[in-house]
Amino acid sequence: MVKQKKIFLDESEMPRQWYNLAPDLPNPLNPPLGPDGNPVSPDMLAPVFPMNLIEQEVSQERWIDIPEEILEILVRWRPSPLVRAYALEEALGTPAKIFYKNESVSPAGSHKPNTAVAQAWYNKQFGIKKLTTETGAGQWGSALSFACSLIGLECKVFMVRVSFDQKPFRKMMMNTWGGTCIASPSMETQAGRNILAKYPDTPGSLGIAISEAIEAAVSDPTGETRYSLGSVLNHVMLHQTIIGLEAKKQLAKVGIKKPDVVVGCCGGGSNFAGLSFPFIYDKINGADIKVVGAEPFSCPTLTKAPFIYDHGDVAKMTPLLPMYSLGHTFIPAPIHAGGLRYHGMAPLVSAALKDGLMEAQAIHQSECFEAGLLFAKTEGIIPAPETTHAIASAIREANLAKEEGKEKTILFNFSGHGLMDLVGYEKYLNGELTDYEYPESEIGENLKMLDGYPLPK
Ligand SMILES: Cc1ncc(COP(=O)(O)O)c(C=O)c1O
Repeated sequence: MVKQKKIFLDESEMPRQWYNLAPDLPNPLNPPLGPDGNPVSPDMLAPVFPMNLIEQEVSQERWIDIPEEILEILVRWRPSPLVRAYALEEALGTPAKIFYKNESVSPAGSHKPNTAVAQAWYNKQFGIKKLTTETGAGQWGSALSFACSLIGLECKVFMVRVSFDQKPFRKMMMNTWGGTCIASPSMETQAGRNILAKYPDTPGSLGIAISEAIEAAVSDPTGETRYSLGSVLNHVMLHQTIIGLEAKKQLAKVGIKKPDVVVGCCGGGSNFAGLSFPFIYDKINGADIKVVGAEPFSCPTLTKAPFIYDHGDVAKMTPLLPMYSLGHTFIPAPIHAGGLRYHGMAPLVSAALKDGLMEAQAIHQSECFEAGLLFAKTEGIIPAPETTHAIASAIREANLAKEEGKEKTILFNFSGHGLMDLVGYEKYLNGELTDYEYPESEIGENLKMLDGYPLPK
């Protein structure tokens, strides 16, 4: 008999509410602070985000209804399948059961459309005509272009230079959906011009691209443009929790009450949060679940950076956020996992780590590509370089289960496919990939400019 490999949910079984971790944290979230060190009021964020999303950003409601019109768009690919990785298990010879939530089935190829659709919809409701954003690997920019095209908004994307050069097809996807995409830093904004004057050959960073996108939104004299962020913020984590809420129902369908280990890769934190927060809710309520966030050694935010107040971008346009941060001027090495090259981490994920609800692991890109290749050769799908971090971490857990002789259930988020990221695979196969480790001494040096900033409680 052919074994059941994929576990599906009907459209009628889709979660009707998102889960907000904020009210369940053991310690309340530190508020975002303005330049004067005082908490920012919702009004101060109004030039950047529409008020309906600001309300979600500060909400202390545990469950927030998903509007029907958003669900009607999400059903184009949701509920996403939960897949048992039998072939990977066999290759590893592990007694563990490995499941992955396949978010690569979305039209843009990753988890990012879950929040792109929600954000575009709320902006449209608020009367906004155009969104600006940044993108690292191009997944987020293409997801937002896709969402804007369905919902009827203009979309402009500032793409980190190194990825713009490495991944030209992502730009073409954005253009196909009607978005515009330019390399960041660009000459279009003051923030971009300042950086280019100082560092003409910079590979760019998410922090710089965010500065450019915010500037482009707030400087639109019509007032009809807002900025949209693909990760980090509370409302983005919220929209992604549909992943974990579906996974819970799917595991229950095959008689699994809870996974033993939940794994996600961490850039700004959103796919990790999306899968893990509904399980962290169970953990807070007594379930024994190990939750692991995997990140690159070259951008070790969760594993090496301090928990501080820092800006989300280079030009200091965002409020100060309470998070693990390598410093807003940090320019990570040009690894292929462009979406994991971010200096900070979502305040909610940072709080979860600080409160002992999760642990973090740093992994070199060579181990990740090796894991990605094994996955491609066993399960068949070529993973995004970001996703290979979750796979490498899940493989570590499966090997541990083998050593311990335990039949654990391991669940990880397959955050995206790598069909637009093949240059990284080619470099790996040609032996041209370099591992970078960010030295601890440089972290201290880079954080010196934050002397005098307030510290989170
Ligand atoms: C496939 C994929 N996974 C993960 C990430 C990391 O982002 P986040 O930590 O917000 O999920 C990205 C970001 O671009 C991505 O494209």
